Amino acid sequence: MTGTKTGLVGHPVSHSKSPLIHGYWIRKYGLNGSYSLLDLSCEGLQSGIEKIKAEGFRGFNITVPHKVALLDLCDEVNALARAVGAVNTVTIENGRMSGTNTDVFGFIENIKSKSPTFDFKAGPAVVLGAGGAARAVVQGLLMEGVPEILLSNRTESKADTLIETASEPNKIKRLGWNSGEAGEAVSTANLLVNTTSLGMTGKPKLEIDLSSLNPRALVHDIVYAPLMTELLLRAQERGNPIVTGIGMLLHQARPAFSLWHGVMPDVTDELEAMVTQ
Ligand code: ATR
Repeated sequence: MTGTKTGLVGHPVSHSKSPLIHGYWIRKYGLNGSYSLLDLSCEGLQSGIEKIKAEGFRGFNITVPHKVALLDLCDEVNALARAVGAVNTVTIENGRMSGTNTDVFGFIENIKSKSPTFDFKAGPAVVLGAGGAARAVVQGLLMEGVPEILLSNRTESKADTLIETASEPNKIKRLGWNSGEAGEAVSTANLLVNTTSLGMTGKPKLEIDLSSLNPRALVHDIVYAPLMTELLLRAQERGNPIVTGIGMLLHQARPAFSLWHGVMPDVTDELEAMVTQ
């Protein structure tokens, strides 16, 4: 392999669409580079990363289950990745690893590109879930000036921890999970986001009552398999604007590509079609 070596560290990684995305851009911009899958178990993470460095990699993305471990393995981690509590992109320069988090950008840019007139400041956001993806979503919403976030998660203690460690905890309120509180909160919501894995192919469906959903609320699901989740279909049927989840995956890849190759790539319809096939 010659050129700029990059890849994805995770376990498992074989299902990933990232090689398709980065490979498309490397070809499109006529660059000399590669993006490979680097399957590392938790036990083999540190030695695997040393090998990646020794092989002269320019950087790598990180996926489940290593995003939190990289906080300690990097030589420096920027404030954004610290605020999210996870590193998903590493750049290597003179043997030093710098970590950042591009999931926040991916989430926000997806909404901005698909729904350009959406005003984050216009009202509260209801966020379902409190896992890794929810942390990036909440950080992004706070950065965009959302006035209030109403957070609901099955494991309520995880929602509490997310709130305590968020950059503006006073703007976030926890709702119950089984109490129907999320269904009530959507009546005033400007945005409803599902960050749980519910609704994904093979997973249970997301139970939320949309009967009082604010008719102008934007509904977004970060689940992208299937692309049109049951939540999005129900919201669309009611006439609400919707944004699918595939764009978050596509847009989070852009700043990483830019850091490694010096070109900020575009998300084209052709790329979106390739990835959703
Ligand atoms: P990710 O990094 O994609 O966010 P994660 O950290 O494993 O993945 O988080 C998954 C989210 O989906 C969590 O909010 C999880 O709720 P818990 O914190 O209670 O585990 C939620 N989730 C997954 N399966 C669920 C289920 N069957 N019912 C309700 N929530 C579920």
